[in-house]
Amino acid sequence: MALLHGAKQLLGRMAGAATTARAEPEVAPSAEVELLTPTRPLQMVRLNAAFAPLVDSIPPSCRDTPSMMSLPEKQLLFGLASRYYDGTGIIVDAGIFLGGSTRCFGEGVRSNPRHEEIVRNWPRPIVSYERAIVNPNMPQFFRKHGLTLAAAPGESFESELRRNIDPVKDLIDLRIGDFMDATGPDCPVEILFLDILKAPALSLRAFQRFHSRLIPGRSLVIHQDYFFEELPWIKTHQEALADYFEFVGEIGSSAIFLCRKEIPQAVLDGLGNDLAPAEQLRLASIALHRSADPARRFFMALSKMRLIRKLQGRLAARAYLEVIKTEFPEQVDQTDNRRLGHALRRAEEFLAKKPGKAHKEGMRAAEQRVPSP
Ligand SMILES: C[S@@+](CC[C@H](N)C(=O)[O-])C[C@H]1O[C@@H](n2cnc3c(N)ncnc32)[C@H](O)[C@@H]1O
Repeated sequence: MALLHGAKQLLGRMAGAATTARAEPEVAPSAEVELLTPTRPLQMVRLNAAFAPLVDSIPPSCRDTPSMMSLPEKQLLFGLASRYYDGTGIIVDAGIFLGGSTRCFGEGVRSNPRHEEIVRNWPRPIVSYERAIVNPNMPQFFRKHGLTLAAAPGESFESELRRNIDPVKDLIDLRIGDFMDATGPDCPVEILFLDILKAPALSLRAFQRFHSRLIPGRSLVIHQDYFFEELPWIKTHQEALADYFEFVGEIGSSAIFLCRKEIPQAVLDGLGNDLAPAEQLRLASIALHRSADPARRFFMALSKMRLIRKLQGRLAARAYLEVIKTEFPEQVDQTDNRRLGHALRRAEEFLAKKPGKAHKEGMRAAEQRVPSP
């Protein structure tokens, strides 16, 4: 109850802050919390009141495009493209796998009342990045979703991806290839959806490429892996820029941030310099407290454990894992929730591995389909 009260207070403050966002009439800001649904673990949708109404029904084509996202996350992307996006900048979708997010953005832009004006300014307003090479975990996803895709690890799934986004292809600038070699865009970015930050170098590259293009008071950054129990660098990089952002909310494993101030390129270049370990740990703690869902906080603590292992070694990480277990007894005991059990098991396995191997495995897991809660 205390948690709920605290969350409502926090949301009240966030809603106030959102009043400066230049939102469309349909998403007129309000001082009230619109959406706070403490349902099952990891399914809480908690969004700033200005954005909550955007999580609504979507066309069947968006729902049916295979994706690693949850339905509410797809609904948010569609809602943003159809009712928030006004064409001040472009939409960047990085790490699109079979095209689920790009299809949501494409269908959304198509049904946006300003569609014609948008494409006059940006003939292809959605820039999507993907290398389209099957990784070792993807065949399991293909089987699980009944896809006839026969591509084996190392082979391309580009044709399947192109098929999925074909009906919106006129709106898409599709960039196939390694993101580390990618160029552009040289224009403002209004919506930035990131599901490609699977390694520290990829994360740095994305932050340095896109964040100086964000429009203060307008641009949203959606981190699809924020409330994921691995990939601690995403939290470090984003929280190091906390002064430039307002936290907008949580949905699925995504965290949404509204850009408040222009971010100087020098600040972004500085992200590459190693922060002091104490500062990295402080940022991980801030990230942990972003969520009002105890299960997501549990995940964020597991992510911090990985950072501790890197900064302070295996013994310190093991000790922190024991602290996590005492601080999150309900999450540890929820043996009927496959997602929670999976996260804890992976954390134990991670601690048992040699450092190099643990890092590689972590990256792979980040691209795998995890069990539903
Ligand atoms: C977790 S998946 C994205 C899931 C997708 N957003 C969805 O909703 O289904 C991450 C994607 O990033 C892509 N990726 C990872 N590293 C990449 C790189 N260096 N360059 C381009 N794409 C990359 C992978 O191929 C994979 O499709």
